[in-house]
Amino acid sequence: MKRDVRMPRWQLTDAMMRLVLPSPSNPLAVRGVRLAYDTVAADYAAYLPDTRAEAPLDLAMIDAFAEAVTLGDGAPVLDAGCGAGRMSRYLAERGCLVEGVDLSPNMVSMARRDHQDLVFTVGSLTNLPYPDDRFGGVMLWYSIIHTPPAGQAGIFAEAARVLRPTGHLLVGFQSGEGTRDVAGAYRQFGHEIQLERYLYTADQVASELEAAGLREVCRLVRRAQGTEKDDQAVLLATAP
Ligand SMILES: C[S@@+](CC[C@H](N)C(=O)[O-])C[C@H]1O[C@@H](n2cnc3c(N)ncnc32)[C@H](O)[C@@H]1O
Repeated sequence: MKRDVRMPRWQLTDAMMRLVLPSPSNPLAVRGVRLAYDTVAADYAAYLPDTRAEAPLDLAMIDAFAEAVTLGDGAPVLDAGCGAGRMSRYLAERGCLVEGVDLSPNMVSMARRDHQDLVFTVGSLTNLPYPDDRFGGVMLWYSIIHTPPAGQAGIFAEAARVLRPTGHLLVGFQSGEGTRDVAGAYRQFGHEIQLERYLYTADQVASELEAAGLREVCRLVRRAQGTEKDDQAVLLATAP
């Protein structure tokens, strides 16, 4: 008699979930992040078109970064994990010669549509499509948050590779420990996605920066405000 090898639906879902379990070497996990942002891209661009979600303290850190990089030799600045381009616009308004890169083709399409004077490219933080020493500044604004701890070293090594000597790096993220499911936030827009984010302490990120050969200049760690669920951190670092 022929055996029925079909899996019950719950087992199949479980097996698929395990396949997309995030690990830096698991391309399916990266594909999961890309798929999630491809799905929500239009709503992300519509509901978060500017820096309205940032606190004045966050913006002060970005302003300090923009000032540091524009004081240099006019080298371009990379908005790494640029999403729909709102932070690229903010940097451009502060005199940066900015370009953006993001994993999600749909987020990049939104960025190109809404910021036609800026250059956006599809690419991964762990394999940036740029030569060594290309940028005077690299900003990772809430783009490291979907990568698990074991993948962080690869991101910071790539950022350090494309950064010029004495260039600056700025990284913003939710501060804490563990993970959070962010699918619920997108359900109100009718999207059923699978997406989680990782919390990191400022010390953890500072260690990653140091391991990548960068030196911390200063950090901000502030308490959650308004509808934020977590404390927020921003670190500014420089290349030797
Ligand atoms: C929370 S959104 C932030 C977008 C933008 N920085 C902003 O503040 O609006 C995270 C972005 O990081 C991108 N991202 C996540 N992991 C990435 C990776 N490994 N390589 C490139 N982009 C990535 C996502 O596609 C998404 O657009």
